[in-house]
Amino acid sequence: MANKSWKVLVTGGAGYIGSHTVLELLQADFEVVVIDNLSNAYKDDNNIKPECILRIEKLTNKKIVFIQCDITNLNELRDIFKKHKFHSVIHFAALKAVGESCEKPLEYYKTNVCGTLNLLKVMRDFNVKCNCTNPYGKTKYMVEEILKDLCTSNQEWSVISLRYFNPVGAHSSGQIGEDPNGVPNNLMPYIAQVSVGKREILYIYGNDYDTPDGTGVRDYIHITDLAMGHVKAMIYQKIHNSTGFKVFNLGTGKGYSVLEVIQAFEKASGQKIPYKIVERRAGDISASYADASLANKELGWQATKNIGDMCLDTWKWQQNNPNGYKR
Ligand code: UD1
Repeated sequence: MANKSWKVLVTGGAGYIGSHTVLELLQADFEVVVIDNLSNAYKDDNNIKPECILRIEKLTNKKIVFIQCDITNLNELRDIFKKHKFHSVIHFAALKAVGESCEKPLEYYKTNVCGTLNLLKVMRDFNVKCNCTNPYGKTKYMVEEILKDLCTSNQEWSVISLRYFNPVGAHSSGQIGEDPNGVPNNLMPYIAQVSVGKREILYIYGNDYDTPDGTGVRDYIHITDLAMGHVKAMIYQKIHNSTGFKVFNLGTGKGYSVLEVIQAFEKASGQKIPYKIVERRAGDISASYADASLANKELGWQATKNIGDMCLDTWKWQQNNPNGYKR
């Protein structure tokens, strides 16, 4: 079947990773329906669609069906599946702040676990068994276990779980990007806000880790590469008629320290990023990076952008949109 008549449901499609994936799906000619509860996306009161979706429509010159819906609402989900016949589902709708999840564990289990269960229930009832998912946080493990059991119970399911680490950057147009609520938890959006003067100084959480310069090392991946990983995974399912549960890492396989990221950002932006070393942050580890060779071999996917591209696109987005999607 041509991509044009292949209808994809993207849950959480107004979020950071979701929106970039929606853009790449449209560019690959897929038909896209987005559902999102807008808990972490900006919508102007005068519009029915959130700002990022409007911008994607403009960039691609294509229309997106947008439905405001929370995946914990089973009846609303059912109505959507009644109305649309989906060929694939890419599931991003989840809560993902580690700190917040310690304060509100029940909300996290409700959205990430119960919400995913609702989605799977409706998919089963409407016989949509082609699914590519990406749950967050501590609930990731639970949901993968659920998906494994589901695939064992019925061979018609095709599930790909994509594991990835530190998505950063923005679309090269500078029109869509990461727009965190409040104080950013993560390194790159924090640096970006310092670079435009929204925050005074970056706090580096520890320089006594067992790494070359003592600061934490992570596998940063450009958001567009990551979005393409989702498109490739879906095309893989579509072409190979694959069944069962599969897991792929999406990363560059290369780690950068906090100090290296700062250096790369300063080079890309020409801005000085003042910083101060403070105590380690609870829960942080010294280094984490991914071996993405399986995704390369099976999906034909590879990260194409380097740390310089990631910083340059983050800078471009932040400069164009100092207050995110709010004008
Ligand atoms: C975090 C999440 C992870 C999520 C990922 C998404 C935690 C514990 N984990 O990973 O679940 O998938 O984001 O991108 O929150 N750092 C500073 N100063 C800051 C912010 C971060 O020094 O203001 C350091 C951290 O100590 C770490 C590195 O920068 O060494 C990256 O941190 P961050 O961007 O928060 O990502 P992770 O913690 O790796």
